[in-house]
Amino acid sequence: MKRLTVPAILQRKQDGITADPIVMLTAYTARQAQLLDAHCDMLLVGDSLGQVIYGLPSTIPVTLEMMANHAAAVVRGSYHSVVVVDMPFGSYEESPQQAFASAAQLLKASGAAAVKLEGGAAMAETVAFLVGRGIPVMGHIGLTPQAVNVLGGYAARGRSDAEAEKIVGDAKALSDAGAFSIVVEGVVEPIAIAVTNAVPCPTIGIGASALCDGQVLVTEDMLGMFERVPRFVKRYADVATTISGAADLYAQEVRARSFPGAEQTYQPK
Ligand code: KIV
Ligand code: NA
Repeated sequence: MKRLTVPAILQRKQDGITADPIVMLTAYTARQAQLLDAHCDMLLVGDSLGQVIYGLPSTIPVTLEMMANHAAAVVRGSYHSVVVVDMPFGSYEESPQQAFASAAQLLKASGAAAVKLEGGAAMAETVAFLVGRGIPVMGHIGLTPQAVNVLGGYAARGRSDAEAEKIVGDAKALSDAGAFSIVVEGVVEPIAIAVTNAVPCPTIGIGASALCDGQVLVTEDMLGMFERVPRFVKRYADVATTISGAADLYAQEVRARSFPGAEQTYQPK
């Protein structure tokens, strides 16, 4: 299987996406990437790793170095999916030049194909700057977690007419600037539909109904690793129970000296 390309993802919408929605999941480690790769079109090294891997309270403290290290692991663990890396907060907002330097650092360190950044019309100039210089960009609009301190929380967006209009305008601005795809997070279904109809590039929904051109979830959320997850997450497994059950059994066997058994023990010839 040859690795998919950014133009191939963009082309999917022109070819009629309804029959072939885009499948995306987050991945932060090589082993996780190995397990997910064949099932996905794209793997996202999301800055959600701040909370999921590092136990941080938000994505705000995530650094370029953290993103570069995890992105490199995910590229090493995959050979099929397009690997997209999140640009962390503070690494791209100041200017197109700052964004280019940060994005170049991420792609050089990891071998990933594209970056993702949050923000709409305000980031359009930056998106055009990067794309014009060889860096494919995925947009991210609606609920943008790096703006949590401006938004005041993680509630769904697009419930007022003004907010709805702004989100559709953001999508158009990003697409006109050359974004190859746009994540639409935490918006009411009519907005997801309006955005998806408004742009020629694929929309990737998360908490944005089934009517986007593709879907993404945080892998640990859909695996059932966490007690508390947003309403839009469906749990496809109960990995938390599997892990704590295995740890419990191991602990019991160590304390009972029934592990290691004869099979796990070396003896002289
Ligand atoms: O960081 C992340 O995991 C993301 C997705 C949830 C879209 O940005
Ligand atoms: Na993110």
